[in-house]
Amino acid sequence: MRFQEDKNILEAMKYIRRQNELYYNRTGRKKLAMITTYGCQMNVHDSEKLRGMLNYMGYADTENKENADLIIYNTCCVREHAEERVYGNVGALYSLKQERPDLIIGICGCMMQQEGMAENVARRFPFVDIIFGTHNLHSFPELLLKALQSNNTVVEILNDDRNIVEGVPINRAKGVSAWVTIMYGCNNFCSYCIVPHVRGREKSRSREDILSEIRDIARNGYKEITLLGQNVNSYGKDLHGNYLFSDLLVDIDKIEGIDRVRFMTSHPKDLSDELIKAMASCKKVCEHLHLPVQSGSNNILSKMNRKYTREQYLDLIARVRKSVPDIAITTDIIVGFPGETEQDFQDTLDLVRTVKFDSAFTFMYSPRQGTRAAKMKDQIDKDVKKQRLNELLEVQNFITGQKNSVFKNRIVEVLVEGTSKNDPNCLSGRTRTNKLVNFKGSPELIGKLAHVKVTNPKCWTLEGEAISEEV
Ligand code: 5AD
Ligand code: SF4
Repeated sequence: MRFQEDKNILEAMKYIRRQNELYYNRTGRKKLAMITTYGCQMNVHDSEKLRGMLNYMGYADTENKENADLIIYNTCCVREHAEERVYGNVGALYSLKQERPDLIIGICGCMMQQEGMAENVARRFPFVDIIFGTHNLHSFPELLLKALQSNNTVVEILNDDRNIVEGVPINRAKGVSAWVTIMYGCNNFCSYCIVPHVRGREKSRSREDILSEIRDIARNGYKEITLLGQNVNSYGKDLHGNYLFSDLLVDIDKIEGIDRVRFMTSHPKDLSDELIKAMASCKKVCEHLHLPVQSGSNNILSKMNRKYTREQYLDLIARVRKSVPDIAITTDIIVGFPGETEQDFQDTLDLVRTVKFDSAFTFMYSPRQGTRAAKMKDQIDKDVKKQRLNELLEVQNFITGQKNSVFKNRIVEVLVEGTSKNDPNCLSGRTRTNKLVNFKGSPELIGKLAHVKVTNPKCWTLEGEAISEEV
């Protein structure tokens, strides 16, 4: 279905835009919207769609809730921590809503898609105006119109369906890099993970829709794209043809104007030889693979329902490295999964030392209601989890530092994103292997590829100097 074909949504957008124009004519002020995003890149990209719809309706962006006319929290529920922050932040809006009853407050995203959650939130925070989920993001204008016309909380959570809504306006973050969703949902049901419960089953976008979106992105001056999906390696399997992720990469590689192609996330069980071949042969596909291992113990991997063994994972890494030498490999690891013994944890440390990941996102297991692991016996003590996390971090940080140190005096290709966050006199960008580089160079390099000599490799970043104006 195409967004533009839904008359109700278009009518709602036009009506709100007209109201906002009248408001602007009366006051000389544009209405402002603030979106706060929690969680993964999928949510970040969904927020770009919300912003696209809001901009079309005449709202300008703000990062300040004090002057916002509309505040949206796009939530995550992958771990408990993100949920707690949402509760805290929504609760803190109560006094603002009392001062300014016209303020519209919306909550959406994965957390709202959990069973019973929307009703809970509506009860606990009755001053919230709109609650919606991940499956009806595109109906936001209709829900907003209802909320503007009523005093009650508008709640609409849909179940997953097979429909993908194409053509939702997107206001992408400015810069060199753009996100492109290639598929939605996940079929894997890893026993700890809430994602399949809130994002539904795997649904791939058509190749035509993806390729035309990327051509459009290139025309708008972006140089790098990151293909998004919970499990990009199974792209196309639901489309019943034989056009798979490796084929998509080959086609994207030919699009002019794009210099770099990245993708995430990959599931080890679906990383095919064809994909490894495509990574090796496609010039624009960067030498970086994010391949979550989650645990180094076969016992825990089986309880996690990951469908691969430690040995298979190590073999996969060896094959990837053989085909794409110098590839950077990053991962996700969970410590303290139910029943994880000290030996299981030592197996994870051992795997980390064996693979030598370039970096790792490390998490303490967080029980998610509705998942199989939350019901497992032998939940691990919080202190043990913390201690294991610290130990793991120490091992990984040492490896990251070691891996970065070999870059001393090397010349790397950097896609320059802008000035560095910490030092406005420095530029900042990433290598093809996704390492952050802060370096001295002319601001004219922003948005371009530059050659940088690394002078001081640190644990998290590489420092250096530009040696040529442009690659
Ligand atoms: N507890 C801790 N970490 C989790 N992740 C997913 N679910 C949980 C959970 N319940 C981690 C996994 C995944 C990453 C996105 O978040 O490592 O790869
Ligand atoms: Fe969650 Fe596993 Fe799907 Fe990743 S592959 S989203 S961890 S269920």
